[in-house]
Amino acid sequence: MIQMLHVYKNYSPKYPALSDISLNIEKGEFVFIFGPSGAGKTTLLKLIFGAEHPSKGQIIVNGMNFGRFKKSTLPLLRRKMGFVFQDFKLLNHRTVFDNVGLALEVVGIKKTEIKRRVLKVLKHVGLSSRINTVPLVLSGGEQQRVAIARAIVNEPALLLADEPTGNLDAELTKEIMKLFKIINAWGTTIVIATHDKNLLNFNPTKVVALEHGKIKGVFVTGRKGAEETATRNGSIN
Ligand SMILES: Nc1ncnc2c1ncn2[C@@H]1O[C@H](COP(=O)(O)OP(=O)(O)OP(=O)(O)O)[C@@H](O)[C@H]1O
Ligand SMILES: [Mg+2]
Repeated sequence: MIQMLHVYKNYSPKYPALSDISLNIEKGEFVFIFGPSGAGKTTLLKLIFGAEHPSKGQIIVNGMNFGRFKKSTLPLLRRKMGFVFQDFKLLNHRTVFDNVGLALEVVGIKKTEIKRRVLKVLKHVGLSSRINTVPLVLSGGEQQRVAIARAIVNEPALLLADEPTGNLDAELTKEIMKLFKIINAWGTTIVIATHDKNLLNFNPTKVVALEHGKIKGVFVTGRKGAEETATRNGSIN
């Protein structure tokens, strides 16, 4: 589903954000991009989403080479992707319903169908009672869940989530990870960027350890649990 071949990203020539990243993510995987602040996690997700362009190297998503098609194709590709932003990017003066539904409105889905899908997804994330609230008065955890609902409402083949549990306590983190597991079980490929070692307990299929823009190790775990394997290899600390 995602192939990166010798990808580099330099925002400025002096400090490369990503260096020589080669990575393969298969359909249906549940992957963590794991590393400290500044490691390049957000940059990596943005490259997969086509929101940033590589300085060098190739990125192929869903069989399409990001370097080779017209800009006008990007929105079509994005319809198959959901992105949970690190800073949510919610519209603060629109209701929770609108925040989630707008993504469907812009692709021309009928109002009744939008309503059905939005109510269903808000129920999934436990926000049925907040439909007509504006994000400004929601807690951090509730805003996080609106951002997740918006990213999954169009049933994407690929869900990219940037520190999706960064604002949550242990209990809510568990809830959100459970939700990601359910979405993954529907067949959605999931890539989560995190600095939180505790998330490694949630049985990813692969952990990509990033540091200073470089891949320090890729730990393929199947469904067994990444932390054990990673610790045994002595590379995640
Ligand atoms: N738009 C930008 N312009 C210039 N430099 C940038 C930009 N975005 C990121 N960087 C730099 O690239 C490097 C990687 O940043 P990135 O945001 O990808 O890290 P991160 O792993 O997501 O960190 P965090 O855990 O703090 O979110 C950092 O050194 C950062 O300063
Ligand atoms: Mg980040």
